[in-house]
Amino acid sequence: MALSPQWLDELRTRITLSGVIGRTTRLTKAGREWKACCPFHNEKTPSFTVNDEKGFYHCFGCGAHGDAIRWMTEQRGMPFMDAVKELAAEAGMEVPAPDPRMAKAAEQRASLHDVMAAAQAWFVDQLAGPAGAQARAYLERRGVSAATIREFGFGYAPDSRGAIAEALSGFPKEMLIEAGLLISVEGKDPYDRFRGRLMLPIQDRRGRVIAFGGRILADVPNAPKYLNSPDTPVFDKGRTLYNLHRAAAASRGSDRIVVVEGYMDVIALAAAGMGEAVAPMGTALTENQLELIWKLVPVPVLCFDGDSAGQRAAMRAITRALPMLRPGHSLSIVTLPEGLDPDDLIRRDGTSAMESVLAKGESLVDAIWRVEHAAAPLRTPEDKAGLKERLIQHTETIQHPDIRSLYRRELLDRYGAFAFPKREERAPFKSGKFDRRPLFQQRTAPSPRLRQLNPAAARARLIAAVLTGLTRHPAALEAEVDRLAGLHPDDLDQSRLLDAMLEFAETRKFLPTADRKALEPAEIAAILAKRGLALPDRDAIGGMKFAFLTDCTSEPEATRELVQAIDLLVEKPAIEAALAQATARFAEDPDGSWAEQQRLLKRKLEFERRLVQMAASRADAAA
Ligand code: UTP
Ligand code: MN
Repeated sequence: MALSPQWLDELRTRITLSGVIGRTTRLTKAGREWKACCPFHNEKTPSFTVNDEKGFYHCFGCGAHGDAIRWMTEQRGMPFMDAVKELAAEAGMEVPAPDPRMAKAAEQRASLHDVMAAAQAWFVDQLAGPAGAQARAYLERRGVSAATIREFGFGYAPDSRGAIAEALSGFPKEMLIEAGLLISVEGKDPYDRFRGRLMLPIQDRRGRVIAFGGRILADVPNAPKYLNSPDTPVFDKGRTLYNLHRAAAASRGSDRIVVVEGYMDVIALAAAGMGEAVAPMGTALTENQLELIWKLVPVPVLCFDGDSAGQRAAMRAITRALPMLRPGHSLSIVTLPEGLDPDDLIRRDGTSAMESVLAKGESLVDAIWRVEHAAAPLRTPEDKAGLKERLIQHTETIQHPDIRSLYRRELLDRYGAFAFPKREERAPFKSGKFDRRPLFQQRTAPSPRLRQLNPAAARARLIAAVLTGLTRHPAALEAEVDRLAGLHPDDLDQSRLLDAMLEFAETRKFLPTADRKALEPAEIAAILAKRGLALPDRDAIGGMKFAFLTDCTSEPEATRELVQAIDLLVEKPAIEAALAQATARFAEDPDGSWAEQQRLLKRKLEFERRLVQMAASRADAAA
């Protein structure tokens, strides 16, 4: 009998619930509802309500709750179908006859399961019998124990084109074709799909055999090793995970699910005591498979080979997972030693080696950074900008807004630290036969007046001025977000202030353009005040006078000066990064890199002179 949800809904809307209940229970009107003393429990004041619009009754005393059908079955004690028939008669509806197609499909599924079970039993017999000698020898060579062979239901499909039809002659050939056990080609007799193969049953959540994977016994280079069942009414590749029914049970103890690539990896892990492993059917993990695993554990472990194919597979899985991320749900990414699958690793280095690799899983954000950082050369500014673009592209696919901004922030921070390294993170000068101290240290010391205003102090003053300027001219903040992110002030307060402003500007980027009004200085002030951050005081600015600090200049003039000051500030980290690179190249190319270092040092010196000059002259102007 197949009653569709639509039909049942129609029945519910046509029935007036109070009419049905009113036949045996006295109802009194209360607003839009009806009230009564609850017929399901003993009470003196009515807490039972009936709502005709919603078609539900509910008791606030005992929690009894249901629709008309439920009322008939619970309160009147009728069987479900009788209740439906009585209500349908009252509503003037015809109870649909059982749908012959749906009934047939259900029956067919049931019998395909029977076919698969029979095939499984026969393959197991074949492995144990004379035909299975080679396959048994193969399993022994691979060190698969008798217990594992039994637990995982290994079998053997003999090398014959007509054996299975004969063995399963109790089933019509059409069913064997439907089950994927026979291949039917026009004009030929159907023949066995699996011939001369070691057979692995693939089971559903209830442990029923729904498909097979068949492995050849002698590897042929570049030839496919495995042949799998095609999709059938009982087998959907993208919705099945190998070993899920055992792993689900095991995961309850360990709170872990490990996803590996191969059937034999799952089996090797189980033999080593890690029963909570699953594998997709030789394809990338589908969304459906990911959801299946997330229902069991919040952070499944995904294993990938360390070679480039494995890393591409990792990126595919990550790309698929990002849009689906929800609070508390993530992945742990494990990279295996290059060229080893879990089976190889366990065989070579033992269970504890596998355990320790599994424990070293990376977070998704770490994996994205590592893979993208290694994906392409990062020599030129254009290369680096490419990295930034790839990182942002990943974050933009994340649907959950909080998770998306957190990923963005985290990845851009790492990018900033990489593309604009701080002074103390740079590679130190190597010692050698040249005097490779920075040029300005080799020269005579600067004049006492300039020394008073050393480059670091000048820079701090300028940053203080720029931060103040940005709060007065927030348009420049939005326009310069990326360059400002590379500033990295040495002063902690300045750094906090800049971070808060950048974070605010960054989040505004996600607003639809229509909602994005121009930023007001008051808004910035409010954000900073809320975080307990204060603007630099006049001392920190050192009395410097800029157009962007006074009220008596035009907006374009103020913004132009602000951008110039930012130019000057970001130039330094850029020069320093280039210097660090030239220094690192010294071993391979001493002459070229030396010349480059000298050129850059000169530029740095020139820049520092300009910086000091700017700070000093502006201060002079103030005096
Ligand atoms: P592997 O080649 O890693 O398989 O392929 P494995 O399990 O480690 O097999 P052994 O150790 O060589 O016996 C990973 C998975 O890809 C699918 C299978 O699901 C396999 O387990 N596959 C592989 C195929 O479907 N066909 C193939 O030809 C190869
Ligand atoms: Mn393998």
